[in-house]
Amino acid sequence: MVWPVKSDSPKPKPKPESAGPRHVAIVMDGNGRWATQRGLPRLLGHKEGVEALVRAVRAFTQRGVKILTVYAFSTENWNRPEPEVSGLMSLVPTAIKAHLSSLVAQGVRLRAVGDLSVLSPKVRQAFVKIEQATAGNRRVELNVAFNYGGRWDVVQACKRAMAAGVLPEALDESTLGRYMALADLPDPDLLIRTGGECRLSNFLLWQAAYAEMYFTERLWPEFDDEDVHQALAFYTSRERRFGSLPDHHPPCADAERGLRQVGGSSANPASAHG
Ligand code: FPP
Repeated sequence: MVWPVKSDSPKPKPKPESAGPRHVAIVMDGNGRWATQRGLPRLLGHKEGVEALVRAVRAFTQRGVKILTVYAFSTENWNRPEPEVSGLMSLVPTAIKAHLSSLVAQGVRLRAVGDLSVLSPKVRQAFVKIEQATAGNRRVELNVAFNYGGRWDVVQACKRAMAAGVLPEALDESTLGRYMALADLPDPDLLIRTGGECRLSNFLLWQAAYAEMYFTERLWPEFDDEDVHQALAFYTSRERRFGSLPDHHPPCADAERGLRQVGGSSANPASAHG
């Protein structure tokens, strides 16, 4: 879909620290290894990944998460061997057919995020079909990032802003933000990556600026209820500062004394990035 341009109102304020995340983003990594460890073709790992996604949607929803954004196919995934790419492509209509009615029943609104223009008509139509079938649902938003890349997103936002006549002197973060994918949603509060790697891999570079990051060794197909629980427990244990100081920070004099005690560093404690 062409992501709607956001109106001029500010994004909703972050929730209090103790609350659970509203928006969880997931890099679903480890499908290939899960399959290889079992002597199976990698594509079976991706199929199992779809089942894990369906379970995760249910589990996160039951715990109050309202928005999920999952990385299903990156702009870099085209570099995989052709059989794997076409296998992932053909998984889209199959998975949608298999799970459409259950997603509708659960109140899920599914939207695809990414450059769908280069996909085959069959894959595009499958996404259109599920977007239309779930358009009226509001219980949970499931954004499937497909042929998505964070850099692509920044470029498409710039192009759309320019096409809309935004002048360079008028361009600022909030203006450009209105043209980014997911602009009508709050930014992700929590970003989970399974499979043991600790990087973003070009996912939601703009939107995840202040997301808490949770990395786990678990492979995506085995991600279960207990993993959901642990990821959410990690989130609630974090103190979200959005670049400011913690509520309980000591007054300056105390902070300076503290610095002297740890070796006289001249670093300014207030300069740490939240
Ligand atoms: C990364 O695991 C996973 C992907 C590139 C695909 C993720 C896709 C799904 C979970 C299916 C979702 C599909 C739809 C239609 C919504 P990997 O293959 O890189 O695993 P590896 O690191 O073990 O090789």
